Amino acid sequence: MLKPYAPKVFQLGYVGVDTPDLARALDYYGETVGMTETDRGDGASYLSVGYEHHNIILRQTAAKGLGNIGLQLKPDSDLAALRKEAQNLGLKAEIKTDSQPGIREMLEIEAPGKIAVQLYTDIDTPAPGFKRTGIAPLRLGHVAIISSDAKRLMVFIEDFLGFRFTDTIEGIANFYTCNRDHHVLNIVDAPEDRIHHIAFQLKGNASHAMASDVLRERGVKVEWGPARHTAGHNLAGYHFDPDRVLIELYTDMDVYIPELDMCEARPWHEHLPMRPRNWKLSELSAWGTDFEFNLAQA
Ligand SMILES: [Fe+2]
Repeated sequence: MLKPYAPKVFQLGYVGVDTPDLARALDYYGETVGMTETDRGDGASYLSVGYEHHNIILRQTAAKGLGNIGLQLKPDSDLAALRKEAQNLGLKAEIKTDSQPGIREMLEIEAPGKIAVQLYTDIDTPAPGFKRTGIAPLRLGHVAIISSDAKRLMVFIEDFLGFRFTDTIEGIANFYTCNRDHHVLNIVDAPEDRIHHIAFQLKGNASHAMASDVLRERGVKVEWGPARHTAGHNLAGYHFDPDRVLIELYTDMDVYIPELDMCEARPWHEHLPMRPRNWKLSELSAWGTDFEFNLAQA
């Protein structure tokens, strides 16, 4: 019997990207991806896709890595009650005020694997608009995290945050949602701790060709795709940012129906109904397209 679908959060707000070369990363996320810098200070740069204050935080650090993950809470959330709930699970949790531009108050929880998960109900929306240059995606869609503490992290995501499990690829890549996107978080169970990939949704399927042309103009190689995945059925193309953090551009993500524990039926689904299942690593591409790189290790 499925637990009631009552996630505490409803969308991925931002991903923190630690970089040893802030200027180079800023050039990539600003000019190639086509995001707008909304704030800068203390060795950090805040970039917006077009509406919220930020969707990516670049932070100058000694080595590249995963910064903080921002998840937006449902509007009536009680931060103090959530802090207590997290602390009762033995997690470090702290309410922070004015700790980050654009967010007045947040609850920061140290999730398993020492991942800083920042929960907030409100973020400023300066709405700088969508750029006319670069890839100019529609939105930040999901983040995939490799964690050496994946089992505990997944329990936190399901039991505390209330995400719903929607698919797995041989237990290595594990997909979770807090809304109707097939996945918002993807937890890769491997003995490393880093970002696996950050995924931006494009305007439409034709945007894949335009994005690939932008990448070519900017001297960035497309590593794989665009081709259709099985888990999530997104049309996805991958390239690396300047620090070799994998970036996915996608469209056509499966729409999950929590009431039915299935995805809206599509002509390209291999199974009807399309319920959460265990896919094989060899089934990553619905079209059987060869990978030029190993997605499980990228
Ligand atoms: Fe992805």
